[in-house]
Amino acid sequence: MSAVTARAHPNIALIKYWGKKDEELILPVAGSLSLTLDAFATTTSVELREGLAEDRLELDGLVRDGEQLARVSAFLDHVRSLAGASGRAVVRSVNEAPTAAGLASSASGFAALAMAASAAYGLDLDARGLSRLARRGSGSAARSLVDGVAVWHAGTDDESSYAEAVPAPPMGMVIATVDGGPKAVSSREAMRRTVQTSPYFSAWVSSTEDYLERMVTACRAGDFTTIGQLTEAHALRMHALIASTEPPIRYLRPRSVEVFDAVAGLREDGVEAWATADAGPNVAVLVQPQGAAETAARLAAIVGVDQVRVVGAGPGAHLLPEGC
Ligand code: PMV
Repeated sequence: MSAVTARAHPNIALIKYWGKKDEELILPVAGSLSLTLDAFATTTSVELREGLAEDRLELDGLVRDGEQLARVSAFLDHVRSLAGASGRAVVRSVNEAPTAAGLASSASGFAALAMAASAAYGLDLDARGLSRLARRGSGSAARSLVDGVAVWHAGTDDESSYAEAVPAPPMGMVIATVDGGPKAVSSREAMRRTVQTSPYFSAWVSSTEDYLERMVTACRAGDFTTIGQLTEAHALRMHALIASTEPPIRYLRPRSVEVFDAVAGLREDGVEAWATADAGPNVAVLVQPQGAAETAARLAAIVGVDQVRVVGAGPGAHLLPEGC
């Protein structure tokens, strides 16, 4: 059989997902909201091949085994159980962003895999079904199925936990890479540690629900200033929460904090820019299109900022025509 190929982009959360209430189904403790980007794509093809004893994974041109293969294979097992199929597959995936560097390659990776694998195994899923499927690979992947701004409803079971689009004003991001290396503690492990050890966890859940409601209202109203304020405040709350675990985890580096300070400086000079960071040291700065160039120039001037990239709102995961 010929390969089915899909392409997906990472998303950066403006209201963060941090903590699961069901580890197997990947049900989050609260909803979240993100912007799908138009850069750092993952392109993944899935080819069913008869006679293979186990799935094969090629990531960025290298054959992978161990934990990476096990995670992809477990995901394919779920797809096979939905499709009533048993054949193994060859998965080839290419990332345009460094894997595990905090640029959410697991989101684009599992969104592309959900799209390609469901088509390869003949599943006929609607947008909600695809988002639910991607969620089973990596929670944040549920949001990369959606164009632009996506709200992921926490839900109470497999059925009700999915992402969908929210209308929002034009906005983009300036991504400042301060350290391209892999992160010390995976988000999966760090979330588990947070749920088990942080004394602030219940406050995090209730404050995230409150922020999400305000964020959805601000997006619908096109109120960029409120969107920005909530984005930066929520990111700092997440990092404070993560720092409150036992043993503590700190993802932000001194350079990351410098970028947050530079962004506050931009605001003082009248440029509406707001910083956020995922489970890693890199900083994503939310801007209106007219503020992108000045923000990028200001961040590029900081010593130790390796790369600055202006990105816009991007499309949800989609299949590519045959032969791509
Ligand atoms: O989907 P995961 O397990 O890679 O978790 C992502 C968590 C954050 O990126 C830190 C926040 C988010 O909402 O994307």
